[in-house]
Amino acid sequence: MARLRALEPDAVIVWRDISALPMPDASYAALLAHPDDVAPPAARGSITLSETLIREIEDADVLVLGTPVHNFTVPASLKSWLDHVVRVNRTVALSAQGKKGLLTDRPVLVGVAAGGIILGEDAQQPDFFTPYLRAVLGCIGLHNLHIVSVQGTAFCDASAKAVALENALSALSPVLSACTIFKSSRDIPAPHV
Ligand SMILES: Cc1cc2nc3c(=O)[nH]c(=O)nc-3n(C[C@H](O)[C@H](O)[C@H](O)COP(=O)(O)O)c2cc1C
Repeated sequence: MARLRALEPDAVIVWRDISALPMPDASYAALLAHPDDVAPPAARGSITLSETLIREIEDADVLVLGTPVHNFTVPASLKSWLDHVVRVNRTVALSAQGKKGLLTDRPVLVGVAAGGIILGEDAQQPDFFTPYLRAVLGCIGLHNLHIVSVQGTAFCDASAKAVALENALSALSPVLSACTIFKSSRDIPAPHV
């Protein structure tokens, strides 16, 4: 965020602490189970929260997610955020051909920390994190993902973690520059990861 701010000093940064999100409630589950009901449930609880979170995405030029890996995949809090923003007839349309994302694509920068090695040729465990995140965000129209990682945090000391973080941020530099271009021209290269 600091580097994005340096490139775009006037950027408005909206922070969302997703660690405090509740699980979706029953009304929301009913809405998703019966999306074509003529009388949808009243907008409250998770439905209201869902609308707030979706608008935060819609208003963002760039989305930045910071997350750990928990049990090979996204942590429960990130899953709850996803459950609130992947909403039938709002961010995703269903048809006989499958799912079609309804959000306009934009860069999504994902910083992920893992206790072990989950990515690359030295991976020691299955990676259900990156394919899952790409699939679920892709289904709402967000395909321009850039994932950088700090891995092996369980085994390295503070200075090694700092080096890994610096390397991850360096890998993001070209993407960050492209994000500023995106802001002015809506033209950003497709991800190469
Ligand atoms: C409940 C839980 C499950 C975890 N599962 C995994 C895992 O499957 N693979 C892994 O590499 N690290 C796992 N970790 C370790 C975290 O990914 C690691 O500690 C990471 O650095 C946490 O991010 P933080 O340092 O920003 O808190 C797990 C940690 C917790 C608390």
